[in-house]
Amino acid sequence: MSNIIVTVRDWIDARFPMTQLWNEHMAKYYAPKNLNFWYFFGSLALLVLVLQIVTGIFLTMNYKPTAETAFSSVEYIMRDVEWGWLIRYMHSTGASFFFVVIYMHMFRALLYGSYREPREFLWIVGMLLFVLLMAEAFMGYLLPWGQMSFWGAQVIISLFGAIPYIGDDIALWIRGDYVVADATLNRFFSLHVIAVPLLLVGAVVLHVMALHQVGSNNPDGIEIKKNKDANGIPLDGIPLHPYYTVKDMFAVVVFLMLFALVLFYAPEFGGWFLERDNFVPADPLKTPEHIVPLWYFTPFYAILRAIPDKFGGVVLMGLSILMLFILPWLDRSPVKSIRYRGQVYKIALTLFVISFVGLGYLGTVAATPTATWFARGLTLVYFGFFLLMPWYSRLDKAKPVPDRVTKK
Ligand code: HEM
Repeated sequence: MSNIIVTVRDWIDARFPMTQLWNEHMAKYYAPKNLNFWYFFGSLALLVLVLQIVTGIFLTMNYKPTAETAFSSVEYIMRDVEWGWLIRYMHSTGASFFFVVIYMHMFRALLYGSYREPREFLWIVGMLLFVLLMAEAFMGYLLPWGQMSFWGAQVIISLFGAIPYIGDDIALWIRGDYVVADATLNRFFSLHVIAVPLLLVGAVVLHVMALHQVGSNNPDGIEIKKNKDANGIPLDGIPLHPYYTVKDMFAVVVFLMLFALVLFYAPEFGGWFLERDNFVPADPLKTPEHIVPLWYFTPFYAILRAIPDKFGGVVLMGLSILMLFILPWLDRSPVKSIRYRGQVYKIALTLFVISFVGLGYLGTVAATPTATWFARGLTLVYFGFFLLMPWYSRLDKAKPVPDRVTKK
């Protein structure tokens, strides 16, 4: 290193633990050497979070958060602001990609038992991130003030009205008016642009700190800290930097290629990432034929609609997310990774994926009697995965787990 850089580094180190932090979290942080494809999604989530914040800042420069001006200011961004179309599409496509990445990230935890001891806290912070992300996406979708923005918010906020006694007051309090209106738009803007992103960033810091406290799990579900050399370095560990920083760059390049492909050729993704009705300005007097949330909410929406009673539906939808929070305490298998679990868990996980994707599909179509019965069946499967887990995870025949990680 040139002299000047060393001098500056030493000057900072005397006043701030820069090199110490770098070593602790990067150059001398040992991650398992067998991390695979599924371990890309954490750093990709970080990347998308940054992309969303940066594009969001630029959108805010031209967006006008009033019921009168919101829709036309978005059109102005799309047509007149230099590169405005790119910034807006990066943000709207980015939201959907965020959920793709997060669902993959969460699924990895189900594959390898990453939520299990000692990573329960990390998992709970992850779940808080998931809830925050859903709130962030929901509030962001109101901002363009299109038909689906308006009616989607109307439907979801009115769900609170189903709570006995205090429900109507809560819904009124959230909207700030008797219907979704200017006051709602203003507060959603404030929450979407500053409050929730601050919480998200704070929770990500907690998430990574919790991860670095216990260390990464891996596809074998073995704790690498149990096998250390004479210097206290895990035998199956390699420094995060440069090994995983370089490996993650590969994932970033592939991800950005896919992102660009969608962004430049199908930014609305046939109505899946931006619904057609949302290119029509909000009209409180005209209800769209089908009010459907975006794809990442539809599994939960289908659970909500599967129950004839509105309050019952709301409770079940809440429980469907709560189940994920308590997952670490439901799993009683002696092993973590799916590699060493028996057939029962493999079947259970497959059924769970089928139920989640199936519910996701059913949440997008009209609630005909047949669709509703299917949704009820899949809701049972969804809850069965969690509620029966204490039983079937113990019953499952686990294979012996090796002491050291395998290279695959
Ligand atoms: C903004 C959202 C999120 C960001 C930026 C983020 C970031 C990360 C990063 C960088 C890692 C380490 C790399 C990796 O293992 O992939 C990680 C690990 C982990 N995350 Fe997240 N995460 C987010 C959301 C979530 C959510 C929603 C959950 C689940 C509820 C979750 C659960 C976990 C778990 C269990 C690990 C450890 C996995 C293992 O070691 O096998 N994260 N996260």
